[in-house]
Amino acid sequence: MLEILPLGAVDPEAVIRQDERAFGFRYDRVSRPVARADVADMRGWAAVDRGEVVAFVGARPCEVTLPGGCPVAAAGVTWVSVAATHRRRGIASQLMGRMHAEALERGEPLAVLIASEGGIYGRFGYGVATWRRVVRLDRRAAGLATPFEDPGRARYVEGAAALDACRAAYERYRVAQPGAVSRREPWWQRAVAMKTPQWVVHEDGDGVVDGFTVYSNELHWDYGHPASRVSVDDLVTATPEAREALWRVLLGLDLVGTVETTWLSPDDPLEWQLADRRALRTVEVLDGMWACPLDVAVALGARRYLAGGTLVLEVEGARFRLDAGEGGAEACPTGSEADLVLGRGALGSILFGGVRPTVLVAARRVVERVAGAATVADRMFLGERMPHCNTAF
Ligand SMILES: CC(C)(COP(=O)(O)OP(=O)(O)OC[C@H]1O[C@@H](n2cnc3c(N)ncnc32)[C@H](O)[C@@H]1OP(=O)(O)O)[C@@H](O)C(=O)NCCC(=O)NCCS
Repeated sequence: MLEILPLGAVDPEAVIRQDERAFGFRYDRVSRPVARADVADMRGWAAVDRGEVVAFVGARPCEVTLPGGCPVAAAGVTWVSVAATHRRRGIASQLMGRMHAEALERGEPLAVLIASEGGIYGRFGYGVATWRRVVRLDRRAAGLATPFEDPGRARYVEGAAALDACRAAYERYRVAQPGAVSRREPWWQRAVAMKTPQWVVHEDGDGVVDGFTVYSNELHWDYGHPASRVSVDDLVTATPEAREALWRVLLGLDLVGTVETTWLSPDDPLEWQLADRRALRTVEVLDGMWACPLDVAVALGARRYLAGGTLVLEVEGARFRLDAGEGGAEACPTGSEADLVLGRGALGSILFGGVRPTVLVAARRVVERVAGAATVADRMFLGERMPHCNTAF
Protein backbone atom coordinates (compact mmCIF):
# COMPACT_ATOMS: atom_id res chain seq x y z
CA MET A 1 0.00 0.00 0.00
CA LEU A 2 1.63 3.22 -1.20
CA GLU A 3 1.42 6.39 0.87
CA ILE A 4 2.31 9.86 -0.35
CA LEU A 5 3.84 11.81 2.54
CA PRO A 6 5.40 15.27 2.85
CA LEU A 7 9.17 15.39 3.37
CA GLY A 8 8.68 16.42 7.00
CA ALA A 9 7.01 13.07 7.74
CA VAL A 10 9.87 10.85 6.50
CA ASP A 11 13.48 10.23 7.50
CA PRO A 12 15.70 12.54 5.41
CA GLU A 13 18.41 9.83 5.39
CA ALA A 14 15.97 7.54 3.58
CA VAL A 15 15.46 10.24 0.95
CA ILE A 16 19.23 10.54 0.53
CA ARG A 17 19.59 6.76 0.12
CA GLN A 18 16.76 6.73 -2.45
CA ASP A 19 18.57 9.48 -4.38
CA GLU A 20 21.85 7.53 -4.31
CA ARG A 21 20.19 4.39 -5.64
CA ALA A 22 18.26 6.16 -8.38
CA PHE A 23 21.23 8.11 -9.71
CA GLY A 24 23.78 5.35 -9.13
CA PHE A 25 26.35 6.97 -6.86
CA ARG A 26 27.28 7.30 -3.17
CA TYR A 27 27.69 10.48 -1.24
CA ASP A 28 31.10 10.54 0.48
CA ARG A 29 32.39 12.10 3.69
CA VAL A 30 32.46 15.58 2.14
CA SER A 31 29.29 15.47 0.07
CA ARG A 32 26.98 13.71 2.57
CA PRO A 33 26.71 16.65 5.00
CA VAL A 34 26.15 18.90 1.98
CA ALA A 35 23.34 16.60 0.80
CA ARG A 36 21.80 16.69 4.31
CA ALA A 37 21.85 20.49 4.28
CA ASP A 38 20.32 20.40 0.80
CA VAL A 39 17.42 18.19 1.93
CA ALA A 40 16.90 20.33 5.03
CA ASP A 41 16.48 23.32 2.72
CA MET A 42 13.76 21.84 0.50
CA ARG A 43 10.16 20.79 0.64
CA GLY A 44 8.98 17.68 -1.11
CA TRP A 45 6.80 14.61 -1.33
CA ALA A 46 7.85 11.02 -0.81
CA ALA A 47 6.17 7.79 -1.86
CA VAL A 48 6.40 5.27 0.98
CA ASP A 49 5.79 1.54 0.49
CA ARG A 50 5.30 -0.32 3.77
CA GLY A 51 7.50 2.14 5.64
CA GLU A 52 10.20 2.42 2.95
CA VAL A 53 10.82 5.54 0.88
CA VAL A 54 10.68 4.44 -2.76
CA ALA A 55 10.34 7.79 -4.54
CA PHE A 56 10.80 11.48 -3.96
CA VAL A 57 10.18 14.82 -5.64
CA GLY A 58 11.69 17.93 -4.03
CA ALA A 59 11.33 21.65 -4.64
CA ARG A 60 12.85 24.85 -3.35
CA PRO A 61 11.32 28.29 -3.68
CA CYS A 62 13.30 30.44 -6.06
CA GLU A 63 12.98 33.38 -8.39
CA VAL A 64 13.48 33.04 -12.11
CA THR A 65 13.96 36.06 -14.32
CA LEU A 66 11.57 36.63 -17.21
CA PRO A 67 12.40 38.95 -20.15
CA GLY A 68 12.40 42.64 -19.32
CA GLY A 69 14.28 42.10 -16.05
CA CYS A 70 11.26 40.59 -14.28
CA PRO A 71 12.08 38.06 -11.53
CA VAL A 72 9.08 35.91 -10.65
CA ALA A 73 8.50 33.30 -7.92
CA ALA A 74 8.94 29.70 -9.03
CA ALA A 75 9.23 26.19 -7.66
CA GLY A 76 12.75 24.95 -8.38
CA VAL A 77 12.06 21.22 -8.81
CA THR A 78 14.87 18.88 -7.83
CA TRP A 79 15.83 15.43 -6.52
CA VAL A 80 13.20 13.62 -8.66
CA SER A 81 13.60 9.87 -8.35
CA VAL A 82 11.67 6.62 -8.24
CA ALA A 83 13.27 3.32 -7.14
CA ALA A 84 13.96 0.85 -9.96
CA THR A 85 11.65 -1.58 -8.15
CA HIS A 86 8.72 0.86 -8.46
CA ARG A 87 9.22 2.55 -11.83
CA ARG A 88 6.61 2.99 -14.55
CA ARG A 89 3.63 2.70 -12.23
CA GLY A 90 2.78 6.39 -12.31
CA ILE A 91 4.54 7.28 -9.04
CA ALA A 92 6.59 10.18 -10.47
CA SER A 93 3.38 11.47 -12.08
CA GLN A 94 1.57 11.41 -8.72
CA LEU A 95 4.42 13.18 -6.91
CA MET A 96 4.79 15.81 -9.65
CA GLY A 97 1.02 16.46 -9.41
CA ARG A 98 1.28 16.98 -5.63
CA MET A 99 4.27 19.22 -6.02
CA HIS A 100 2.57 21.36 -8.71
CA ALA A 101 -0.57 21.76 -6.56
CA GLU A 102 1.57 22.82 -3.61
CA ALA A 103 3.50 25.34 -5.73
CA LEU A 104 0.24 26.90 -6.89
CA GLU A 105 -1.00 27.16 -3.30
CA ARG A 106 2.24 28.92 -2.41
CA GLY A 107 1.74 31.46 -5.18
CA GLU A 108 4.45 30.16 -7.52
CA PRO A 109 3.14 30.58 -11.10
CA LEU A 110 6.04 28.63 -12.63
CA ALA A 111 7.93 25.42 -11.97
CA VAL A 112 11.45 25.07 -13.35
CA LEU A 113 13.99 22.27 -13.41
CA ILE A 114 17.14 20.89 -15.01
CA ALA A 115 16.37 17.50 -16.57
CA SER A 116 18.49 14.35 -16.41
CA GLU A 117 16.94 13.08 -19.67
CA GLY A 118 15.14 14.84 -22.50
CA GLY A 119 12.13 12.50 -22.63
CA ILE A 120 10.81 12.82 -19.10
CA TYR A 121 9.24 16.21 -18.52
CA GLY A 122 7.31 17.19 -21.65
CA ARG A 123 4.34 15.14 -20.42
CA PHE A 124 4.36 17.06 -17.15
CA GLY A 125 3.94 20.41 -18.97
CA TYR A 126 7.58 21.47 -19.18
CA GLY A 127 9.27 22.99 -22.20
CA VAL A 128 12.92 23.83 -22.80
CA ALA A 129 13.39 27.48 -21.84
CA THR A 130 17.18 27.90 -21.92
CA TRP A 131 20.11 26.23 -23.61
CA ARG A 132 23.70 25.77 -22.58
CA ARG A 133 26.58 25.44 -24.91
CA VAL A 134 29.36 23.00 -24.20
CA VAL A 135 32.49 24.63 -25.62
CA ARG A 136 36.14 23.74 -25.86
CA LEU A 137 38.75 26.42 -26.49
CA ASP A 138 42.20 25.78 -27.86
CA ARG A 139 43.78 28.14 -25.38
CA ARG A 140 46.92 28.88 -27.34
CA ALA A 141 44.93 29.86 -30.43
CA ALA A 142 42.27 31.75 -28.50
CA GLY A 143 43.59 35.29 -28.54
CA LEU A 144 41.13 38.17 -28.28
CA ALA A 145 41.06 40.43 -31.33
CA THR A 146 40.86 43.85 -29.75
CA PRO A 147 42.97 45.45 -27.03
CA PHE A 148 41.41 45.95 -23.61
CA GLU A 149 42.27 48.20 -20.75
CA ASP A 150 40.75 46.99 -17.54
CA PRO A 151 39.20 49.83 -15.54
CA GLY A 152 39.31 47.53 -12.53
CA ARG A 153 41.30 44.45 -11.58
CA ALA A 154 41.00 40.69 -11.25
CA ARG A 155 42.36 38.83 -8.24
CA TYR A 156 42.42 35.34 -6.78
CA VAL A 157 40.43 34.81 -3.59
CA GLU A 158 39.58 31.91 -1.31
CA GLY A 159 35.97 31.02 -2.17
CA ALA A 160 34.55 31.31 1.35
CA ALA A 161 36.20 34.68 1.95
CA ALA A 162 34.67 36.17 -1.18
CA LEU A 163 31.19 34.69 -0.86
CA ASP A 164 29.43 37.92 0.13
CA ALA A 165 30.91 39.80 -2.81
CA CYS A 166 30.15 36.94 -5.23
CA ARG A 167 26.55 36.69 -4.01
CA ALA A 168 26.07 40.43 -4.61
CA ALA A 169 27.56 40.18 -8.13
CA TYR A 170 25.33 37.19 -8.86
CA GLU A 171 22.22 39.10 -7.75
CA ARG A 172 23.10 41.97 -10.10
CA TYR A 173 23.60 39.52 -12.94
CA ARG A 174 20.54 37.35 -12.44
CA VAL A 175 17.87 40.05 -12.16
CA ALA A 176 18.90 41.29 -15.60
CA GLN A 177 19.38 37.89 -17.27
CA PRO A 178 16.25 36.12 -18.58
CA GLY A 179 16.30 32.49 -17.43
CA ALA A 180 18.63 33.03 -14.47
CA VAL A 181 17.48 31.60 -11.12
CA SER A 182 18.25 32.79 -7.61
CA ARG A 183 20.82 30.79 -5.68
CA ARG A 184 19.99 29.84 -2.11
CA GLU A 185 22.50 29.78 0.72
CA PRO A 186 23.05 25.98 0.64
CA TRP A 187 23.86 26.31 -3.08
CA TRP A 188 26.73 28.65 -2.24
CA GLN A 189 27.88 26.50 0.67
CA ARG A 190 27.93 23.50 -1.67
CA ALA A 191 29.93 25.45 -4.25
CA VAL A 192 32.57 26.22 -1.64
CA ALA A 193 32.56 22.81 0.06
CA MET A 194 32.39 20.48 -2.93
CA LYS A 195 34.90 22.04 -5.23
CA THR A 196 38.58 22.57 -4.78
CA PRO A 197 38.95 25.01 -7.59
CA GLN A 198 40.27 28.51 -8.02
CA TRP A 199 38.05 31.50 -7.46
CA VAL A 200 38.87 34.75 -9.24
CA VAL A 201 36.85 37.90 -8.68
CA HIS A 202 36.80 41.04 -10.77
CA GLU A 203 36.48 44.42 -9.07
CA ASP A 204 35.40 47.52 -10.94
CA GLY A 205 37.29 50.83 -10.69
CA ASP A 206 35.62 51.50 -7.31
CA GLY A 207 36.61 48.14 -5.87
CA VAL A 208 33.10 46.64 -6.14
CA VAL A 209 33.05 42.98 -7.24
CA ASP A 210 31.16 42.89 -10.54
CA GLY A 211 31.97 39.33 -11.58
CA PHE A 212 33.74 36.13 -10.68
CA THR A 213 34.83 32.83 -12.14
CA VAL A 214 35.40 29.44 -10.56
CA TYR A 215 37.60 26.99 -12.42
CA SER A 216 39.59 23.84 -11.85
CA ASN A 217 42.88 23.07 -13.49
CA GLU A 218 43.93 19.50 -14.17
CA LEU A 219 47.68 19.28 -14.64
CA HIS A 220 48.55 17.25 -17.71
CA TRP A 221 51.77 16.75 -19.67
CA ASP A 222 51.69 15.43 -23.19
CA TYR A 223 55.10 13.70 -23.25
CA GLY A 224 56.84 16.76 -21.90
CA HIS A 225 54.55 19.31 -23.51
CA PRO A 226 52.31 21.22 -21.12
CA ALA A 227 48.68 20.39 -21.93
CA SER A 228 46.67 21.03 -18.78
CA ARG A 229 42.88 21.13 -18.97
CA VAL A 230 40.89 23.88 -17.38
CA SER A 231 37.22 23.43 -16.64
CA VAL A 232 35.24 26.60 -16.00
CA ASP A 233 32.52 25.75 -13.48
CA ASP A 234 31.09 29.21 -13.07
CA LEU A 235 31.48 32.55 -14.78
CA VAL A 236 29.14 35.28 -13.63
CA THR A 237 29.51 38.86 -14.69
CA ALA A 238 27.37 41.93 -14.16
CA THR A 239 29.40 44.15 -16.52
CA PRO A 240 31.04 43.62 -19.94
CA GLU A 241 34.39 44.68 -18.45
CA ALA A 242 34.25 41.92 -15.84
CA ARG A 243 33.36 39.36 -18.53
CA GLU A 244 36.27 40.32 -20.74
CA ALA A 245 38.77 40.64 -17.89
CA LEU A 246 37.88 37.19 -16.49
CA TRP A 247 38.05 35.50 -19.91
CA ARG A 248 41.48 37.09 -20.35
CA VAL A 249 42.57 35.50 -17.07
CA LEU A 250 41.25 32.09 -18.17
CA LEU A 251 42.74 32.29 -21.65
CA GLY A 252 46.03 33.54 -20.25
CA LEU A 253 46.70 30.48 -18.08
CA ASP A 254 50.13 29.18 -18.97
CA LEU A 255 50.69 25.44 -19.37
CA VAL A 256 47.02 25.01 -20.29
CA GLY A 257 46.04 23.39 -23.60
CA THR A 258 42.24 23.47 -23.44
CA VAL A 259 39.66 25.51 -21.58
CA GLU A 260 36.19 23.97 -21.39
CA THR A 261 32.85 24.99 -20.07
CA THR A 262 29.45 23.35 -20.22
CA TRP A 263 27.49 26.47 -19.31
CA LEU A 264 28.06 29.04 -22.06
CA SER A 265 25.05 31.01 -23.21
CA PRO A 266 24.07 30.42 -26.87
CA ASP A 267 24.60 34.13 -27.59
CA ASP A 268 27.74 34.66 -25.53
CA PRO A 269 29.87 37.26 -27.32
CA LEU A 270 33.14 35.37 -26.75
CA GLU A 271 33.36 33.78 -30.20
CA TRP A 272 32.96 37.23 -31.77
CA GLN A 273 35.89 38.53 -29.75
CA LEU A 274 38.37 35.87 -30.79
CA ALA A 275 40.94 36.70 -33.45
CA ASP A 276 40.44 33.13 -34.74
CA ARG A 277 36.86 32.05 -34.12
CA ARG A 278 37.72 28.38 -34.73
CA ALA A 279 39.73 28.45 -31.52
CA LEU A 280 36.30 27.92 -29.92
CA ARG A 281 34.45 24.72 -30.73
CA THR A 282 30.86 24.19 -29.73
CA VAL A 283 30.82 20.52 -28.81
CA GLU A 284 27.11 20.40 -28.02
CA VAL A 285 24.10 22.59 -27.34
CA LEU A 286 22.16 21.07 -24.45
CA ASP A 287 18.77 21.91 -23.07
CA GLY A 288 19.30 23.93 -19.90
CA MET A 289 16.35 24.93 -17.75
CA TRP A 290 12.85 23.61 -18.46
CA ALA A 291 9.81 25.68 -17.45
CA CYS A 292 6.18 24.78 -16.75
CA PRO A 293 3.63 27.62 -16.43
CA LEU A 294 1.40 26.50 -13.53
CA ASP A 295 -0.66 29.71 -13.43
CA VAL A 296 -0.79 30.75 -17.08
CA ALA A 297 -2.35 34.19 -16.57
CA VAL A 298 0.10 35.22 -13.85
CA ALA A 299 3.10 33.87 -15.78
CA LEU A 300 2.11 35.73 -18.98
CA GLY A 301 1.52 38.96 -17.07
CA ALA A 302 4.77 38.76 -15.12
CA ARG A 303 7.12 39.65 -17.99
CA ARG A 304 7.59 42.65 -20.23
CA TYR A 305 7.16 42.45 -24.00
CA LEU A 306 9.51 44.21 -26.40
CA ALA A 307 6.62 44.86 -28.78
CA GLY A 308 3.11 45.61 -27.58
CA GLY A 309 0.11 43.68 -28.92
CA THR A 310 -2.91 41.56 -28.13
CA LEU A 311 -3.22 37.82 -28.56
CA VAL A 312 -5.66 35.17 -27.42
CA LEU A 313 -3.79 32.03 -26.39
CA GLU A 314 -5.53 28.73 -25.76
CA VAL A 315 -3.47 26.67 -23.36
CA GLU A 316 -4.75 23.16 -22.76
CA GLY A 317 -8.37 24.18 -23.25
CA ALA A 318 -8.33 27.47 -21.30
CA ARG A 319 -8.22 30.75 -23.23
CA PHE A 320 -6.33 33.85 -22.11
CA ARG A 321 -6.28 37.29 -23.64
CA LEU A 322 -2.78 38.79 -23.42
CA ASP A 323 -2.56 42.58 -23.67
CA ALA A 324 0.98 43.88 -23.70
CA GLY A 325 1.95 47.51 -23.82
CA GLU A 326 4.77 49.77 -22.75
CA GLY A 327 3.61 49.89 -19.14
CA GLY A 328 3.53 46.09 -18.77
CA ALA A 329 1.24 43.22 -19.61
CA GLU A 330 -1.94 41.64 -18.40
CA ALA A 331 -3.48 38.27 -19.18
CA CYS A 332 -7.08 37.39 -18.31
CA PRO A 333 -9.36 34.44 -19.01
CA THR A 334 -11.52 35.10 -22.08
CA GLY A 335 -14.23 33.49 -24.14
CA SER A 336 -12.88 34.97 -27.42
CA GLU A 337 -11.63 32.77 -30.24
CA ALA A 338 -7.99 31.72 -29.96
CA ASP A 339 -5.21 33.10 -32.16
CA LEU A 340 -2.78 30.40 -31.09
CA VAL A 341 -3.36 27.01 -29.46
CA LEU A 342 -0.56 25.42 -27.50
CA GLY A 343 0.39 23.19 -24.57
CA ARG A 344 1.92 24.33 -21.31
CA GLY A 345 5.36 23.10 -22.35
CA ALA A 346 5.37 25.18 -25.55
CA LEU A 347 4.29 28.20 -23.54
CA GLY A 348 7.10 27.52 -21.04
CA SER A 349 9.52 27.67 -23.98
CA ILE A 350 8.25 30.84 -25.66
CA LEU A 351 7.67 32.68 -22.37
CA PHE A 352 11.43 33.11 -21.88
CA GLY A 353 11.98 34.41 -25.41
CA GLY A 354 14.50 31.79 -26.50
CA VAL A 355 12.51 30.24 -29.34
CA ARG A 356 10.21 31.94 -31.83
CA PRO A 357 6.56 30.86 -31.86
CA THR A 358 6.72 30.50 -35.67
CA VAL A 359 9.37 27.81 -35.17
CA LEU A 360 7.02 25.95 -32.83
CA VAL A 361 4.22 26.31 -35.39
CA ALA A 362 6.53 24.65 -37.94
CA ALA A 363 7.27 21.93 -35.37
CA ARG A 364 3.48 21.52 -34.80
CA ARG A 365 3.85 22.36 -31.12
CA VAL A 366 1.76 25.50 -31.64
CA VAL A 367 -1.33 25.72 -33.87
CA GLU A 368 -1.90 29.06 -35.59
CA ARG A 369 -5.67 29.60 -35.79
CA VAL A 370 -5.46 33.11 -37.23
CA ALA A 371 -3.02 33.70 -40.08
CA GLY A 372 -0.13 35.95 -39.02
CA ALA A 373 -0.73 35.48 -35.27
CA ALA A 374 2.50 33.56 -34.78
CA THR A 375 4.48 36.36 -36.45
CA VAL A 376 2.87 38.85 -34.06
CA ALA A 377 3.80 36.48 -31.20
CA ASP A 378 7.40 36.32 -32.51
CA ARG A 379 7.72 40.07 -32.14
CA MET A 380 6.02 40.17 -28.74
CA PHE A 381 7.79 37.27 -27.03
CA LEU A 382 11.33 37.97 -28.24
CA GLY A 383 13.52 38.83 -25.25
CA GLU A 384 16.26 41.45 -24.97
CA ARG A 385 18.79 38.61 -25.13
CA MET A 386 18.81 34.83 -25.22
CA PRO A 387 17.60 33.36 -21.94
CA HIS A 388 20.28 31.53 -20.02
CA CYS A 389 20.44 29.58 -16.77
CA ASN A 390 23.94 28.90 -15.45
CA THR A 391 22.90 27.32 -12.16
CA ALA A 392 22.47 23.58 -11.53
CA PHE A 393 19.76 23.53 -8.90
C1 LIG B 1 12.41 9.49 -14.34
C2 LIG B 1 11.70 8.75 -13.22
C3 LIG B 1 11.60 9.65 -12.00
C4 LIG B 1 10.29 8.35 -13.71
O1 LIG B 1 9.58 7.74 -12.64
P1 LIG B 1 8.32 6.78 -12.93
O2 LIG B 1 7.59 6.62 -11.63
O3 LIG B 1 8.74 5.57 -13.63
O4 LIG B 1 7.44 7.67 -13.89
P2 LIG B 1 5.90 7.44 -14.23
O5 LIG B 1 5.56 5.99 -14.02
O6 LIG B 1 5.08 8.41 -13.48
O7 LIG B 1 5.92 7.78 -15.78
C5 LIG B 1 4.99 8.61 -16.40
C6 LIG B 1 5.21 8.48 -17.87
O8 LIG B 1 6.52 8.96 -18.19
C7 LIG B 1 7.22 7.97 -18.92
N1 LIG B 1 8.63 8.05 -18.50
C8 LIG B 1 9.07 7.92 -17.27
N2 LIG B 1 10.41 8.05 -17.24
C9 LIG B 1 10.81 8.24 -18.51
C10 LIG B 1 12.08 8.42 -19.11
N3 LIG B 1 13.21 8.40 -18.38
N4 LIG B 1 12.13 8.63 -20.44
C11 LIG B 1 10.98 8.62 -21.18
N5 LIG B 1 9.74 8.44 -20.64
C12 LIG B 1 9.66 8.25 -19.31
C13 LIG B 1 6.58 6.67 -18.53
O9 LIG B 1 6.79 5.68 -19.50
C14 LIG B 1 5.13 7.07 -18.43
O10 LIG B 1 4.56 7.13 -19.71
P3 LIG B 1 3.01 6.80 -19.95
O11 LIG B 1 2.23 7.79 -19.15
O12 LIG B 1 2.86 6.97 -21.44
O13 LIG B 1 2.82 5.41 -19.47
C15 LIG B 1 12.48 7.45 -12.85
O14 LIG B 1 12.61 6.68 -14.01
C16 LIG B 1 13.86 7.68 -12.24
O15 LIG B 1 13.99 7.77 -11.02
N6 LIG B 1 14.92 7.75 -13.08
C17 LIG B 1 16.29 7.90 -12.59
C18 LIG B 1 16.55 9.24 -11.93
C19 LIG B 1 16.20 10.42 -12.84
O16 LIG B 1 16.63 10.52 -13.97
N7 LIG B 1 15.40 11.35 -12.30
C20 LIG B 1 15.02 12.57 -12.97
C21 LIG B 1 15.91 13.65 -12.50
S1 LIG B 1 15.69 15.19 -13.34
